Amino acid sequence: MVEFNLPANSRVTEGKTVKAPAGAKNVKTFRIYRYDPDSGQNPRLDTFEIDLDACGPMVLDALLKIKNEIDSTLTLRRSCREGICGSCSMNIDGTNTLACLKPIADITGDVKIYPLPHMPVVKDLVPDLTHVYAQYASIEPWMQADTPFPPNGERLQSPEDREKLDGLWECILCFCCSTSCPSYWWNGDRYLGPAVLLQAARWINDSRDEATGKRLDALEDPFKLYRCHTIMNCTNTCPKGLNPAKAIADIKKKIIERSL
Ligand code: SF4
Ligand code: SF4
Ligand code: FES
Repeated sequence: MVEFNLPANSRVTEGKTVKAPAGAKNVKTFRIYRYDPDSGQNPRLDTFEIDLDACGPMVLDALLKIKNEIDSTLTLRRSCREGICGSCSMNIDGTNTLACLKPIADITGDVKIYPLPHMPVVKDLVPDLTHVYAQYASIEPWMQADTPFPPNGERLQSPEDREKLDGLWECILCFCCSTSCPSYWWNGDRYLGPAVLLQAARWINDSRDEATGKRLDALEDPFKLYRCHTIMNCTNTCPKGLNPAKAIADIKKKIIERSL
């Protein structure tokens, strides 16, 4: 099992409340998970009332406003703020998604924000991705080919073969899918999970890659691949609209087809 770094018998306690400025007319309440494993304290939920008339439209805007103007100790990852880097993934209003793509206006009532579920927490909204990145490295996510480069130095691909990568190359490794997958919650030590398997499919389907057989051999394992029971949480949650469940089903199909 993945080791979690919570205190024994831990429970989430009520934290501080920061009121909106006097006179604010468009106030939204944000309830944010705070946890510092080094402190030995239980996690807590802090409450921040934000004046939306002085804040950008996305949940990430509110988090950055809190960090910049109210509590600089709030810890989160973000970079691109436009759904490309995958670093601001977190659980917002009960769903794993990207804070930079989630409009505050879409959320009814208080905005509840937690880190991605079933991951050890580094601090506050930052999950520890060490294990999942080791799993990503295990699928050898780079082009492998023994055929020497053609004289022009480029391995060409037909438009039809290139199309086979659509729905795969767009993955930004945010891990919203893996952390919404019950099979990954319970078997994440050995099951690779939807994000890593979709990445594996990206290389298996690349016409220029010559390691397909080796890649399928490596995945033909009761835990790495076959813990997927097609529950579909992964596809339902992907903020890029991808379909990891289908990518996993395609890998299983390829493994069956090659034995026929
Ligand atoms: S379809 Fe497979 S990978 Fe996706 S949530 Fe279900 S078990 Fe997990
Ligand atoms: S498949 Fe979607 S949810 Fe999963 S890591 Fe890639 S972009 Fe994120
Ligand atoms: S900040 Fe890059 S995806 Fe949200």
